[in-house]
Amino acid sequence: MMTKITAAITAVGGYVPDFVLTNEILSTMVDTNDEWIVARTGIKERRILKEPGQGTSYMAIKAAEDLIKKANIDPKEIDLLIMATATPDMLVAPTGCYVASAIGATNAFSYDLTAACSSFLYGMSTAASYIQSGRYKKVLLIGADKMSSIVDYTDRTTCIIFGDGAGAALFEPNNEGLGVLDEYLRSDGVGRDFLKMDAGGSMRPPSQETVKNKEHFLFQDGKSVFKFAVTNMADACGKIMERNNLTSDDVQWLVPHQANKRIIDAASGRMGVPDDKVMMNIHRYGNTTSATLPLCLKDYEGKLKKGDTLVFAAFGGGFTWGSIYLKWAYNGN
Ligand code: UT7
Repeated sequence: MMTKITAAITAVGGYVPDFVLTNEILSTMVDTNDEWIVARTGIKERRILKEPGQGTSYMAIKAAEDLIKKANIDPKEIDLLIMATATPDMLVAPTGCYVASAIGATNAFSYDLTAACSSFLYGMSTAASYIQSGRYKKVLLIGADKMSSIVDYTDRTTCIIFGDGAGAALFEPNNEGLGVLDEYLRSDGVGRDFLKMDAGGSMRPPSQETVKNKEHFLFQDGKSVFKFAVTNMADACGKIMERNNLTSDDVQWLVPHQANKRIIDAASGRMGVPDDKVMMNIHRYGNTTSATLPLCLKDYEGKLKKGDTLVFAAFGGGFTWGSIYLKWAYNGN
């Protein structure tokens, strides 16, 4: 009997910029304070990319290089690089192609995958499918965003939330039944009005008017997004656990998108997963959009053991959301 090929994560890497934007600094820029931000979001500080002229690719390259160095792989062996991002360097020319060339992945093809805060989660599904089909052997998935490039630092409702960062995960075939085992992914266009950047796309190309109206900045109706996020993230995790007969005792780690600590607490609460099994680094990085999940994996890598059950969950603009069930494939050290 042929063993089914599964897609395992075999290495992770990450990068965050040096500059630390604290709640204290933010409270000198807008009418806010540390107490409000921590109580409402759980965020203490975030990282901001200050290098002039550098975009998302700068961080993506560093995250990929971190992974390549740690895993000691030859970048020429990478078949495909998927660049999950909501803030590509530029439109039209995919950021992933530039990143692939910069890291020496000369035998890979590459493209960008855009699904707001769910970009990395959806990318896991795409990466896993290429591996499971037997088509490719090494798929590098990078999640990176320079949110500071689209955040309005005079808008206290959004500037406190977002940060910049990048994370990467390598997917390879596995014949021990480890890796991505199930997914429940959803989207609903009703979300378009609640979390968006109005201008700069084909519908509203840039003009003096769009600049004047601040339409090139991220807009979020936080309250509405919050409600959808709590309900749908918990619902997706519930579906994944139910149909795979997982109880909270079977789950070693919940890996949630880091948008707001209150959203994470609500989702883990409904799943019955205690805090010590929930990956959390929002206090240090804020919401890095496509980078939250791989940065969690990087920060918690040392605690992960072969065979651990991980439940990923994300929710973001679109709306986009879902959950992925994965068995971890190696012991962290
Ligand atoms: O990753 C993509 C998905 N995004 C999310 O999941 C984000 C979802 N939304 C949220 O995380 C929350 O809605 C926010 C953190 C954005 C806001 O928290 P909230 O508890 O929903 O606050 P609110 O919008 O209901 O605002 C409460 C009060 C308001 O004042 P009034 O109207 O009660 O007088 C705001 O004006 O807090 C005020 N406020 C602030 N005060 C101090 C809003 N922002 C701030 C601020 N500092 N930065």
